[in-house]
Amino acid sequence: MSDVSISLRPVAEEDLAMFRRFLTEPYLIGLDWTGFADAQQPARRFALDGYLGPDSSRLMVHVEQEKVCAGFVGWTLRDFGGPTKHWEIGIALLPQWRGLGIGWRAQAMLCDYLFTHTQLQRIQAGTHPENIAEQKSLVKAGFQLEGVIRACEFRDGRWCDGYLYSRLRDDPSPLRAGQA
Ligand SMILES: CC(C)(COP(=O)(O)OP(=O)(O)OC[C@H]1O[C@@H](n2cnc3c(N)ncnc32)[C@H](O)[C@@H]1OP(=O)(O)O)[C@@H](O)C(=O)NCCC(=O)NCCS
Repeated sequence: MSDVSISLRPVAEEDLAMFRRFLTEPYLIGLDWTGFADAQQPARRFALDGYLGPDSSRLMVHVEQEKVCAGFVGWTLRDFGGPTKHWEIGIALLPQWRGLGIGWRAQAMLCDYLFTHTQLQRIQAGTHPENIAEQKSLVKAGFQLEGVIRACEFRDGRWCDGYLYSRLRDDPSPLRAGQA
């Protein structure tokens, strides 16, 4: 189902409750759950810059018809060891909004936004071997699989591999190709 109309909008104070849930409800965020984290952190970050900073930011994924937020997307500035920077993006949707065609479109919209408003050439995203929904979402959002990052994270009591994807500025946007 891809007729759920979405947009990305800045974080508002009422969204902080969702962020607190992701930090304190085990596995609500999915495979990225790494244990309980400081539930006061979202309020501090929001007070600092409204989650729109030079090195890391978030936008809410807003569902137009329902006038609610399905989750959020985020991006962080990274480098490959030198001065050149790239973005790394992430996403988390609440369980009731998964599997409705929102995730791939939100990530495609975020890429278009970042390529429009920043000069960086490369956007990357990592995911887990068992996260089929995110792997498919990234490909639908215009990303290509670059490879397996071996034993890159300690999660759920064991070292796990990661999958690394990227979309470059010149790669086609699935939204602009009229597939949305
Ligand atoms: C991962 C996530 C962003 C994907 O977004 P989504 O809205 O659920 O996925 P979409 O509806 O856009 O589906 C994209 C593709 O994945 C497929 N898909 C969706 N859920 C799936 C599932 N549970 N298993 C297998 N495939 C799935 C869809 O069928 C679609 O592929 P298709 O067009 O070939 O049919 C979302 O499920 C989520 O927020 N999960 C929890 C947090 C998370 O894992 N974030 C990423 C961390 S790396």
